[in-house]
Amino acid sequence: MEKCWIRVWIVLVGCLLPVLVQSRVRHYQFNVVMKNTTRLCSTKSIVTVNGKFPGPTVYAREDDNLLIRVINRVKYNVTIHWHGIRQLRNGWADGPAYITQCPVQPGHSYVYNFNVTGQRGTLWWHAHISWLRVTVHGAIVILPKLGVAYPFPKPDREAVVVLGEWWKADTEAVINQAMKSGLAPNVSDAHTINGHPGGGGGGCAAAGGYQLSVAPGKTYLLRLVNAALNEELFFKIAGHKLTVVEVDAVYVKPFKTDVVVIAPGQTTNVVVAADQAAGKYMVAASTFMDTPVVAIDNTTATATLHYSGTLSNSPTAPVTTPPPNATAVAAKFANSLRSLNSPKYPAKVPATVDHSLVITVGLGVNPCRTCAAGNFSRVVAAMNNITFVMPATAILQAHVLGINGVFTADFPGNPPVAYNYTGKPPANISTRKGTKLYRLPYNASVQVVLQDTGIIAPETHPIHLHGFNFFVVGKGLGNFNPKIDPQNFNLIDPVERNTIAVPTGGWVALRFLADNPGVWFMHCHFEVHTSWGLKMAFLVDNGNGPGESIIPPPKDLPKC
Ligand code: C2O
Repeated sequence: MEKCWIRVWIVLVGCLLPVLVQSRVRHYQFNVVMKNTTRLCSTKSIVTVNGKFPGPTVYAREDDNLLIRVINRVKYNVTIHWHGIRQLRNGWADGPAYITQCPVQPGHSYVYNFNVTGQRGTLWWHAHISWLRVTVHGAIVILPKLGVAYPFPKPDREAVVVLGEWWKADTEAVINQAMKSGLAPNVSDAHTINGHPGGGGGGCAAAGGYQLSVAPGKTYLLRLVNAALNEELFFKIAGHKLTVVEVDAVYVKPFKTDVVVIAPGQTTNVVVAADQAAGKYMVAASTFMDTPVVAIDNTTATATLHYSGTLSNSPTAPVTTPPPNATAVAAKFANSLRSLNSPKYPAKVPATVDHSLVITVGLGVNPCRTCAAGNFSRVVAAMNNITFVMPATAILQAHVLGINGVFTADFPGNPPVAYNYTGKPPANISTRKGTKLYRLPYNASVQVVLQDTGIIAPETHPIHLHGFNFFVVGKGLGNFNPKIDPQNFNLIDPVERNTIAVPTGGWVALRFLADNPGVWFMHCHFEVHTSWGLKMAFLVDNGNGPGESIIPPPKDLPKC
């Protein structure tokens, strides 16, 4: 009798355990290694994680603890950023080099130890030093807690779709050379869908492209990631509508579209129904850039949506993406995004503002004694006219350990000189240099207006904030008007995300609650603009007690 009860207990506990103990510890090993890879008919050695391009998908469930050991087996310094993961009180695992950590040096390793709290959906990871992220990136899939459904009909299947760039040249050499000369670097040679340019890529009809196999009548959740270095992208599938259900790991009010617009750093989940006649349908990704003077890679990456039972030699229904300057298409897509704002997933928009900032984002031109090719000047970029200078040691460490002289907390909350930002540039378009942070008390509510400038040319900037999601409460063209524009802010159901494209010649207004103590990078996710200095950081103070304070640094934190 007793034995029997024990048996019943074991069975009961065995069944209940996974339900009771939902969160788990998940271990991953990231070997950063070189790998010979062939694209566009030529072979090149690229930096990868575990030999893969794109890199491995990290799967997690909300509330999990991830332990990811990064082992650096290449000649470059490496860090990995978990783009969009909030890293509550835990900047040590955030990853931007010299902001939160010193890089992992060749032959060394570091364990990124973090929890996934209050987030579910698609995010991604990427190298966060120099331009290594061009090939060192992959998706993060965060499943909802066990027993919690999606707020939309559960798709039958799902697939990760990473959009990227392929460069024939060595991108580290490209950016190093550009920084020396002061001139703009080149553009990529092809776009990629899950690592492949497809037939339309770069003039080399390489063997096929990515194939998404579907069964008639089924629905598919596509987890789109834009991992490209320097280009916003259109994404389209011939003959199929896409229902957008989530961006940057936050659910949105579902809406149908035939084209997705996605900036570097952003993620977008769409549901597609295999509801068309069986056959093959082209999938395409191409550049959105509505500033004519900016050089772009205007190749179109292609893939195939392939219905089961379709012969592989049957024709593919073609699709055309919008032209690169399709401003209206991008604006319509951006305007369609709204927070779900349901009882279960409320939009907690800060109703009041403690710190109201206006930050210009744009380019500049500084004198350069060694830049003969650029007429002794160099292109730079700035936020509020400050070209951010990377320190030689990590800012978070300097902050926590009280090391002086690494940064100053005097980033200006307003443009130093007021002018018609999107009109004719001022006479002096040079910038100041500095490692300046903007300091915030714990739990301050913050409004940031990002204002594009027309210096050199007005241009879109996909701005990413680490450590937080923000609400996009307003946007417009021309100059932000602090008297009139806030009257039209959406404080009810604005989209919540971590990366937002400032419209060309316009502005966006963001709000967030500074409930995460630490040092949090904010920068343009066009890698070329980041290299030029379009970056700054927030320093958020500790609150009361350990529950509102930065956790102690891990023992294996890399040294500079
Ligand atoms: Cu996705 Cu600071 O980067």
